[in-house]
Amino acid sequence: MSTALQAPRTVRIGLAGLGNVGAGVFINLQKNAGLLKERTGCILQVTKIAVRDLNKSRGIDIPSHLLTTDWRDLVADPNIDIMVELIGGTTEAFDLVCAALKAKKPVVTGNKALLAERGQELFKLAEENHVPIYFEAAVAGGIPIIQTLQEGFIGNHIRSIHGIINGTCNYILTRMAKVGLSYETALAEAQQLGFAEADPDLDVSGWDAAHKAIILASLSYGFWIKPEQVFVEGIERVNLTDMRFAKMLGYTIKLLSVIRADEKGLVEVRTQPSLVPQSHILANVSGAFNAVLVNGDIVGESLFYGKGAGQDPTSSSVISDLADAAGTLIFNSRHSGFVPHGLYGKSKPVEDTVSHYYVRLTVDDQPGVLARVATLLGNRGIGISSVIQPEDLEGNTTPLIFMLDDAPLKVMREAIQAISALDCVREEPSWLRVETLEE
Ligand code: HSE
Repeated sequence: MSTALQAPRTVRIGLAGLGNVGAGVFINLQKNAGLLKERTGCILQVTKIAVRDLNKSRGIDIPSHLLTTDWRDLVADPNIDIMVELIGGTTEAFDLVCAALKAKKPVVTGNKALLAERGQELFKLAEENHVPIYFEAAVAGGIPIIQTLQEGFIGNHIRSIHGIINGTCNYILTRMAKVGLSYETALAEAQQLGFAEADPDLDVSGWDAAHKAIILASLSYGFWIKPEQVFVEGIERVNLTDMRFAKMLGYTIKLLSVIRADEKGLVEVRTQPSLVPQSHILANVSGAFNAVLVNGDIVGESLFYGKGAGQDPTSSSVISDLADAAGTLIFNSRHSGFVPHGLYGKSKPVEDTVSHYYVRLTVDDQPGVLARVATLLGNRGIGISSVIQPEDLEGNTTPLIFMLDDAPLKVMREAIQAISALDCVREEPSWLRVETLEE
């Protein structure tokens, strides 16, 4: 892309949204302006910025003439070449992206919810208007996983992706596991550090990671996975007791996103707290870090690790997209960002997805209980790989922990329902998936 022999061309950017990431884009574009000019042959200049509140103090020095309260001013401005959407949400952001595409302006966005829910419409519009959408910042913060899938692994069928792709949840689970913090305190810390979404329910419910998984799956398999085809569970019910038992069994609990195609080509996409073997590298991804493990049929396994949230890492990805968009605008043209290829084209029903399970029961401490539970599992064809019953606990009840072999979700749900109904089972069973991470 370097054009050392030509005079640099100025590419004018309209920035919509000046929150944590927007401010990072502004600051870091200035910080590394010289480097970017040399590498891209372009001067990446923020020409106008749309904000909700002109008077809000943001702790950065921005000339007031750059600011407006209406993103439409940016889209309508013939001096703006590229639009950056960082306002979040799926309603106004959708209108903004549509308006920019219709105005033939390439769009850079970090909005995972928008792409996961309305990507199909947006990429169609992009194709019709012959302008690209760039979205590196939408998945895994500073890790360039979108470019990796689009370009680095273009020659591979993707067999599976396992990812820790929500920094907030990983931070909370790490703080709970390592320091014994309560869920609430750990969440408050993550919010303070700027990892969490404006609405942190999106993080802890698993939906932020699920949105990212939808984007990765859709890129990998060439058709748009619908949010209702995705299995999503958050970390709200993960507790210190299960973390302790998981550790005793040699596992760590992570919010894991799993994307996998089976031999018939059915694609499963799910996000849920899962037990991961402590010996696996994913179990050692801590704090707000993200990791994405890609298995391609030619490349085999590749692991990408880095900061998955926060101002600087996420703005690094936006800037990468801006450099790409500027280079494309000035020097050539390319596709919309999403390439349908219909390789598999079908989602796997979540009820049919299969995995190992961890189950913790609180049962009456008396003979015959284990046999009754084992019978209910055995009747449904679910194998038990190990059982532990901690000794020397006081009281009339005792924990009973099972590690179970592969079972479809539908069968597991029936088994758990039947187990809950036993008179010797005293509390709602706690059950989690176990990802062996062996293909
Ligand atoms: N809230 C998100 C996270 C930000 O914690 O991962 C990055 O997408």
